[in-house]
Amino acid sequence: MTTPAQPEAIEALLKEGRRFPPPPAFAAQANAKPGIYEEAADAEAWWTGWARKLEWSKPFTQGLVWNEPFATWFADGELNASVNALDRHVRNGLASRVAYYYEGEPGDRWTVTYGELLDAVCRFANGLRKLGVKKGDRVAIYMPMIVELPIAMLACARIGAAHSVIFGGFAPDAIVDRVNDSECVALITADQGWRRGKKVPLKANCDEAVAKGMPSLKHVIVAKRVGDPVDMVAGRDHWWDDVVKDQPSTCEPERMNAEDLLFLLYTSGTTAKPKGIKHTTGGYLTGVTATHKLVFDLKEEADVYWCAADIGWVTGHSYIVYGPLCNGASSVLYEGTPDFPDKDRLWEIVDRYKVTILYTAPTAIRTFMKWGTAYVDKHDMTSLRLLGSVGEPINPEAWMWYHTHIGGGRCPVVDTWWQTETGAIMITPLPGITTLKPGSATKPFPGIGVDILDEAGNSVPLGGGGYIVLTKPWPAMMRGIYGDDARYKETYWSRFPHKYLAGDGCNRDIDGDYWFMGRIDDVMNISGHRISTAEVESALVDHPDVAEAAVVGKSDDVTGQAIAAFVSLKSHANGTPELADELRDHVSHILGKFVHPKYLTFTQELPKTRSGKIMRRLLRDIAEGRMLGDTTTLADSSVVAELQSRAVEEANKEE
Ligand code: WTA
Repeated sequence: MTTPAQPEAIEALLKEGRRFPPPPAFAAQANAKPGIYEEAADAEAWWTGWARKLEWSKPFTQGLVWNEPFATWFADGELNASVNALDRHVRNGLASRVAYYYEGEPGDRWTVTYGELLDAVCRFANGLRKLGVKKGDRVAIYMPMIVELPIAMLACARIGAAHSVIFGGFAPDAIVDRVNDSECVALITADQGWRRGKKVPLKANCDEAVAKGMPSLKHVIVAKRVGDPVDMVAGRDHWWDDVVKDQPSTCEPERMNAEDLLFLLYTSGTTAKPKGIKHTTGGYLTGVTATHKLVFDLKEEADVYWCAADIGWVTGHSYIVYGPLCNGASSVLYEGTPDFPDKDRLWEIVDRYKVTILYTAPTAIRTFMKWGTAYVDKHDMTSLRLLGSVGEPINPEAWMWYHTHIGGGRCPVVDTWWQTETGAIMITPLPGITTLKPGSATKPFPGIGVDILDEAGNSVPLGGGGYIVLTKPWPAMMRGIYGDDARYKETYWSRFPHKYLAGDGCNRDIDGDYWFMGRIDDVMNISGHRISTAEVESALVDHPDVAEAAVVGKSDDVTGQAIAAFVSLKSHANGTPELADELRDHVSHILGKFVHPKYLTFTQELPKTRSGKIMRRLLRDIAEGRMLGDTTTLADSSVVAELQSRAVEEANKEE
């Protein structure tokens, strides 16, 4: 096991002594009541109770069927995700409740009610059907944060096609890989998107991707966001407006089995090939509605809830789209970044919509800290009553700043640990019940089984750390990797028998509270984005001047980790600063702009063991500027000395 955080840092973290018991007024009104953990002692019965709150066109009689490592939940039941997100509320008289307060980056804003959203979803679903998209197909979605994105997802769900959302920051190669892996029949995009006042060429990226070869793809559907002309290929490309034109605003939903695929979401693993994580309908909706209701203490008739993530990642799927809509919440949907047009944009939005619940990431919080409190103080933040954090470990300083300056000292902070694979929040405080500790995600959600294991697979007693594992199946768990059961078993279920390996290092204190320490595999976490070292390495060696590359994550005050690349060049090339920049851009060109190596060190050779394996531990130590351990297994120890002195030179070179 590698230790991502330095031992001294872990020790300091565990000495964190501040405690925040639930404010009595909050506890008195909280959704989570004392006794909730005992209530969930029979996990299957607990989850079944939550599943029954959904609307089933055919009620289920089965609970969990566990055929390790494959689970089914409620497998003889039928339901439709879009009906649960929309029709149900409209039928219950909530057609005029706001589903989304939409805030575009350029400042355009409007509200979309549940009634309007249902109409729009039905019309688009009818349009998709007319194009020939049908139950069982896969549809890729590559869009900016506009209302058409959740509409597209729900329309797919309505007609039984699984969506595969591709984050709008990805480059064309990433679209090709994802569309081809699951043989998508359609790709839904927008002409362009807005980012910090600049136009992002989404449709052009799709065209570049299609040109690389997508044999399964029949249709590209283009929503108009920016309005500049884009190339349209007759027969293949369709404007969104034409697809929905003359379509009725009702659409018979497909009856989906609880275990039918709802969506795929690709995530980085330890190889260069991303994994298509499978989520099915009944269990996933059960998990996200239960967690959304309890973790965020949602009062759907009163709260204005805002998850400031991107729908392109799992946080947006579960906590902007499915969880909030199934619970009938009113959410803010914001297209842009926190610093455009100025660094108070988020606080302006909190003030404008009187946001009560805010869910964001530690990397954003650390950035706000750097910018200073003046931006916050310009706005009335008193509507906030609960704050959430997700994506990476939150350091106690960032937690305290969030609690003090955003939450005014009165809002509980829920640090929520989970993954694309888990579908829903797994470890989290329950506001109103849990005593909070800055830097700790505290306790497993009711019904979730967790343990910490050592190298040998023994449970580590309270007060120790190791590999975090999940010990029993849960409804929102991934159902596998698309087209690759063997990789599913190997990645998650082979390291320890009968336990799900999450890939994170974690300590558990004597109260049983969990403190996350970062990944223990070759996955980096840059600003809450999961990026595999192998993906970046393969993008680097794709450049004609590069012979070999090794990539590690290096701790970073703002982004959590930053990419540190070590590159050896082919003999014709020179390691100039210009080439370093060219290589950084090359990586961004292949993987997307959000992937950009901050540190890039040229070296004659990479340090390798005698058997030829790159010594990543050593590179990590060099990147962190730590003392080196024993390096005698190295083939050529002069490599280390050279690398170390270079790394020191590069380390201060900020972007
Ligand atoms: C990390 C995001 C510590 C972790 C929901 C996990 C966290 C990976 C936390 C999943 C947290 C997420 N504390 N680490 N509260 N939340 N992580 O799939 O390393 O994009 O394995 O899902 O993010 O990232 P993913």
